[in-house]
Formats: sequence, structure tokens, C-alpha cells
Amino acid sequence: QLRAGTSRTLAYVLLDATNPFFTDVAAGIEERAEAADLSLFMCNSSNSAAREKGYLDHLAEQRVQGILVTPVDPESPTLDEVIQRGIPLVVVDRTRSRPGVCSVSVDDELGGRLAVEHLVDRGHQRVAYVGGPATIGQVRDRWVGAVGAWRETGLPEADLVQMATAALTVEEGRRAGERMLGLPTRRRPTAAFCANDLLALGLLQHLITSGRRVPEDLAIVGYDDIDFAAAAAVPLSSVRQPRQLLGARAAELLLDETANPAHQHERVVFTPELVARTSTLG
Ligand code: RIB
Repeated sequence: QLRAGTSRTLAYVLLDATNPFFTDVAAGIEERAEAADLSLFMCNSSNSAAREKGYLDHLAEQRVQGILVTPVDPESPTLDEVIQRGIPLVVVDRTRSRPGVCSVSVDDELGGRLAVEHLVDRGHQRVAYVGGPATIGQVRDRWVGAVGAWRETGLPEADLVQMATAALTVEEGRRAGERMLGLPTRRRPTAAFCANDLLALGLLQHLITSGRRVPEDLAIVGYDDIDFAAAAAVPLSSVRQPRQLLGARAAELLLDETANPAHQHERVVFTPELVARTSTLG
């Protein structure tokens, strides 16, 4: 039984349509929507809170059955406005401290920890964390996990080096590579953990086109394990997120909320997994 007076559609407002991570999540949502005989609208906020609000207002006016959103800011009152209008909402790939919504995410601190533990196991003692901006929750949480794992090794804190980027893009990865190769050899990290695969692919490309070898000159771990990670010129080690499952579970929770009067809000957190390939194994 669907909500009366609504259209047979769900909507997913995602953060970055250029990142395959989000299209994989969307595919998981779409599969569940289709099985329930619903269509899916997709809207790209491009990391803009204003654009996100515009889409959410518009979708509420369109009387969609329910909305899935990877929000710019999970605590934003914009999300409360949607809930107050009686539209079921699920937060995807983020968690929210305020009640009233289901959320489905992946343990980013654990992911950061797995990446650093892998690099330290491979013998690296000076590692760069490439990621930013820190306003993105995932970038912060992966860093927190990385620092936690690093401290347990007893290696000097200063040898886990933060290299901030302006965005999680291939272009920013290339720029990080330029900066890294510009460092004096004794200060240069032997490995990099990138906050997502797009950064890692850009970094890898810069290293290779500059005549360096991966992993001999720099080992690289990405994050997400998008399909391009395994297909890279040097297959990329990455922290895998269950992308389609994330979307599918979020859609299931949303469908339950739209149809089940006894629906209980849930916070689902999946576990990431390190996938080791040539970029760290050689
Ligand atoms: O915000 C973008 C990043 O967060 C994606 O690359 C993915 O890692 C997601 O969790």
C-alpha cells in the first residue's frame, strides 16, 4: 500500500554525478524501486547545499513517494523540512544524529584504519593521507581511522602526513602528485592513502606519466573500489564499499517506511573491506 496522493516515483539526491561511486549506489536503489514498480528520479546536488535544497523542495511539491539523499550536511534543517512535510526520507552514505530518519552508511573510520594497517604491514613508515575538503564527513572519518591505526604502530606522528585537496576528483589527485614529487626525497612519503578512488587514479596517472613506478616509488591505496580501480594501468588497491548494497538497503528501508505503519527507523552501518592489488603489492 503506497501513500495516497503521491506519484509512483522515488528520488535520489546525490552529491556528485561525476563520481561512479554514486551511480553504483543509484543502481542499487533503482533495482529495488523497479521491483516495487516505482520509477526513480535522480538529482545531482554537486556538493551545493543551495542546489540540494532546491531539489528537495521541488521533489516535495511533486509528491514523490519518498526521497533518498546523500546530503551535503547530514544535520541540515533542510532535511527536517522534508520530514515535516510527511515525506519519508532515508540518508544514504551518511549518518544523522537527529532522530526521524533511517540511514545506511559504511564504517569510514574502520576503512581508514584498514588502509593504514595494510600500508604499515607492507613496510611503509612515512605515509600521506590525500583528501579534502575536511568539511566532507567521510574525509574526516577516514582520517580519524588512519590516525588511530598509525598511533598503534608507535611510528612518529609526523610521519603520517596530511595532504589536503580541494575536492575528491581525478584532477585534484594529479595535483597532489605534483606536490608530492616536488617534496625533497627525504620528506617524500613512500605510500599514499587517498580518501577516494578518483584521487588515487589521478595520483597514479601523474606518477606514471612522470616516469615513476607504482608501488616501487609510491604505493597507493584508494577508497570505494569503483570498477575503474581494478581496471587501472596499475590495478589499484582500494577499500571496498558495498556500493549497490548500500543503495538497495536504503531503498528497502524507504519502501518499508512508505508502506508499513509499524516502520521503525534504523541506522544500518556496513563494514568496508580492503582489496589489495598491484598498487601496493608490486
Ligand atoms: O563524498 C564522496 C565520497 O564519499 C565517495 O567517493 C565515497 O567514498 C563516498 O563514501
